[in-house]
Formats: sequence, structure tokens, C-alpha cells
Amino acid sequence: MSQAMDRKVVWITGASSGIGLALTKCYLDDGWKVLASARKQGELEPLLDNHQHLTFIPFDITDDSQMDSVRDTLSSYSAHLDCAVLNAGTCEYLDMTDTDPDWKMMDRIMSVNFIGLVNSVEVCLPLLKKSSRPHLVGVSSQAVQAAFPQAEAYGASKAAIRYFLSSLRMDLKQFNVDVTCLLPGFVDTPLTQKNTFSMPFLMSPDDAAKRMFSALESRPFEYAFPKRLTAMLWAGRHFPKLWLSMLAPKNK
Ligand SMILES: NC(=O)c1ccc[n+]([C@@H]2O[C@H](COP(=O)([O-])OP(=O)(O)OC[C@H]3O[C@@H](n4cnc5c(N)ncnc54)[C@H](OP(=O)(O)O)[C@@H]3O)[C@@H](O)[C@H]2O)c1
Repeated sequence: MSQAMDRKVVWITGASSGIGLALTKCYLDDGWKVLASARKQGELEPLLDNHQHLTFIPFDITDDSQMDSVRDTLSSYSAHLDCAVLNAGTCEYLDMTDTDPDWKMMDRIMSVNFIGLVNSVEVCLPLLKKSSRPHLVGVSSQAVQAAFPQAEAYGASKAAIRYFLSSLRMDLKQFNVDVTCLLPGFVDTPLTQKNTFSMPFLMSPDDAAKRMFSALESRPFEYAFPKRLTAMLWAGRHFPKLWLSMLAPKNK
């Protein structure tokens, strides 16, 4: 069999920046064929010129009308997917000190992070099922492990992803599709670069992607990292009054 026929195929959403871009590099370095999606090529552009096994497929994950054509485009590049890493996402913080808080943010963030991921599953599942050993991966966040102020929208969307994937894991077992939920800690990307609070154990995108890539090899149900943050959030969850007194904004 030729080397080209042996090449495994992954679809990565949110591949134009941050974690998705770094993951794209990991998969390419490991010899995979990468089908990379985002709304715009962004930082993928220079990679596209230099990698024949990298293809950009534009997709706004909130736009239902693109779903069939994205599936058709994916299948025109490969009859099956061995892995899909559904990573695209965004973040906004609710400001309760505002006299008119931006409640519509809940809708915006859920549409991208949660419904967008569900749309992406709908797009790729038929192609995953054609693989002999399919792996579906979604990106949640360590933010789901304990409450953070102003994260009403972001945290809820990531908790929804975690539950959705854990339920989906049960229903896809009969089709031999393995499902992994990734829970990264703080990673230095455009998404977090606007944060004004301290981000303990901040990782570079390359470091985060390498940890994710190597953890995915054993197809865990969940992979939360770095462990020091997991431990800190475990304490926050088990000592909620202390956590509240440490993190809640002080009385005005
Ligand atoms: N950075 C962290 O500390 C951290 C921690 C835990 C979890 N995460 C999660 O990791 C994932 C990647 O985040 P990141 O930090 O790498 O952020 P990032 O650098 O801002 O990248 C976000 C990616 O998502 C894409 N995207 C956003 N909205 C989209 C839409 N409507 N349709 C399609 N693609 C869309 C963006 O491309 P376009 O704008 O071109 O579409 C971009 O490629 C997110 O799900 C995030 O919640 C991040």
C-alpha cells in the first residue's frame, strides 16, 4: 500500500489560530493529512503554502446553511475521517456591574461554543463512521471544574460540551466511535490575551497542543491539564465558600 493511502486524516476546527493552529502543526509533523477549518485562513496561510497534506475548508460553525457543503467538501478530500478535533470557540465575559448587562452574550457564546460544536459533530459523524477506528474529540475547558466570576456564558457553554460529549460517548459506542473531551487550562492565545486577571500555570499553544496530541493517543474519556490547575480547581469545588471568598469581586 502506498504511503499516501496509509496517511491518517484529521479534521480540526478553529485551526487558524492558537491551540487549533498548534494542533494542526502536531498532526502534520506526525504525518497526518489535515483538513483545517475556521472562518478565515488567518495564521494557517503560511502553512498552506508549505504543506501539501494541509487543506483549508472554510466553515462558520454557527451557520447551518454551510453544513452540507462542508461535509461534501470534506468527503471530496477524503472518503473517511480517522479523527475530528472540534476546537473552534470564543470567549466573552459578563459584566454584572454594568447597569444593563449584556445578557444576549449567553446566546452568542452558546451559539458558537456549544451549538457550533454540535453542528460540527453533525457534519463529521458520517465520515468518522467510515473509519476503521474513529475518534471524536471536543474541546471544553478546565473552567468547568470550578466557578469563575464573569464566566456565566463561557463556563456554561463548556459545561454543556462536556455533558454532551459524555452522553454522546455512550450512544456512539455501538458504532465504535471513541469520544474524548479535552479540558485545557490557561493557554496563551488571542482568546486569553485580552484577560486582565492572573492566569495560573499559563502554557504556550505549542506546549498545550503537544500535551493534547500525546494524550489523545490513548483515547481517554477526558484529559484535563495541567494537573496543578486541576488540583487547584478540585480544592475550589470541594471548599466552595473559601473559593467564593477568594474569587468573588468585593462589595462596592
Ligand atoms: N486559550 C485558553 O486558555 C483555552 C483554555 C481552555 C479551552 N480553550 C478552548 O480552546 C479552543 C481554542 O481556543 P484558542 O485559545 O486557541 O482561541 P483562538 O486563538 O481565539 O482560536 C479560536 C479559533 O476558533 C475559530 N472560530 C471562532 N469562531 C468561529 C466560528 N463561528 N466558526 C468557525 N470557527 C470559529 C477561530 O477562527 P475564525 O475567527 O477565523 O473563525 C480560531 O481559529 C476554544 O474552544 C477555547 O474555548 C482555550
